[in-house]
Amino acid sequence: MLVSMKAILDDAHKHNYGVMAMNSINMEMVRGGILSAASENSPIIIQFGPGQMKKHAHKEEMLPLIQQLAKRVHIPVALNLDHGMDFETIVDCINSGFTNVMFDGSSLSYEDNLTKTEIICNLAHAKGCSVEAELGHVGQALSEDDQNTDLYTDPAKALEFVQYTNVDALAVAIGTAHGNYPKGKIPRLDFDRLKELKATLDMPLVLHGGSGAGEENLRKAVALGINKINVATDAFEAAKKALLHAYDNDPSLDYLQLSMETEKGIANFVKQFVHVIGSAGRCSFTPFDFEVHE
Ligand code: 13P
Repeated sequence: MLVSMKAILDDAHKHNYGVMAMNSINMEMVRGGILSAASENSPIIIQFGPGQMKKHAHKEEMLPLIQQLAKRVHIPVALNLDHGMDFETIVDCINSGFTNVMFDGSSLSYEDNLTKTEIICNLAHAKGCSVEAELGHVGQALSEDDQNTDLYTDPAKALEFVQYTNVDALAVAIGTAHGNYPKGKIPRLDFDRLKELKATLDMPLVLHGGSGAGEENLRKAVALGINKINVATDAFEAAKKALLHAYDNDPSLDYLQLSMETEKGIANFVKQFVHVIGSAGRCSFTPFDFEVHE
């Protein structure tokens, strides 16, 4: 069933587990993700960003696919706009049936981020859609932004921010970054800051840059209060590897067979991930716990 992301994350916050938010850009990723999560009794969040939507994952085609699949499974599924930046795209996604939008004002001044996030929360909440915002800034792994503590989230500022905006989930900067880290590097996370953020905010927290963050870091981050983990780079890599591996093994495979192998690769990736972050086996609750989005 398709539900608001808030419904999924409130349960994760209450019971202290993490939920995978996988950037998905085609049928193989969406199907591999949702069906694999269902077989593990895990909730899942499917998301894509404005750039991905423009280039390939057009929302007009992706939405019906996700809605149909979500209807068929017993697990809660949310559809999130990842890194929404402009008002028009965000409003369009709210009106189209996304069950969460992220407004990423993390590159704006604090005041602009605050006022824009509040406006978007008012608009989205009126339509039953929840909102994720970002305070501090999760940058790029290639630029080593993960080590720049000036970008990390300040707990006192974050409290003021969530109280003013009424946002449903907050992405925090604690030492991860987007994309591939330099070879062999596992980022160092600021767990003391995360502890303080969770104690101060007492709400669902989001970790961007889940790829390459390391299993141990992810387990500890979840134990200390992260409830949503974004994964893009590693998911795309899992799909690519599955396809190439199948082709290397047997170049006579046709595109249908290669697509099926790609979907299997994603399914395996999701299966492993939901066990690491503790969401496997969490879906014993009934559909009546959630307001279902048609
Ligand atoms: P990665 O590509 O590093 O997994 O980051 C994904 C992300 O945070 C999307 O918002």
